Amino acid sequence: MAEIVYVLNGPNLNLLGLREPEIYGTDTLDDIAGRLEDRARTLGLSIEMRQSNHEGHLVDWLHEAQSESARAVLLNAGALTHTSLALYDAIRSIRTPVIEVHLSNPHAREAYRHKSFVAMAAKGTIAGFGALGYELALDAAARM
Ligand code: DQA
Repeated sequence: MAEIVYVLNGPNLNLLGLREPEIYGTDTLDDIAGRLEDRARTLGLSIEMRQSNHEGHLVDWLHEAQSESARAVLLNAGALTHTSLALYDAIRSIRTPVIEVHLSNPHAREAYRHKSFVAMAAKGTIAGFGALGYELALDAAARM
């Protein structure tokens, strides 16, 4: 059976495609999921794509990724990236490697986006490549 990569998306990413397209692009989360599924197939992986506006769901899913022996988690935590000690602790609590993903480059934006609780615990970060970043992160997960 193909190894699973969890792809977890946080607050407001359900509105991708409509939400500030000049920053986040016009692809929807479903568009991204479709391309990731194709790429995963090529890499001999499968993906489990989820989105929630609630911090606790993301914490639960990080734990689930470990209990399901996922190969890796790709995590775009949205604004929780910059605020969530609970996500930091959750990432530190599991052995599953977590790759932080952002569509935009938070370091080129407002100062309050420069701190990332996710980055402090993640294996690495891919940011600023728009929707392509998810595919780059999946490639990284496959080659790690
Ligand atoms: C984001 C960047 C965050 O700062 C922002 O709050 C988001 C999206 C990104 O993918 O660029 O919701 O994670």
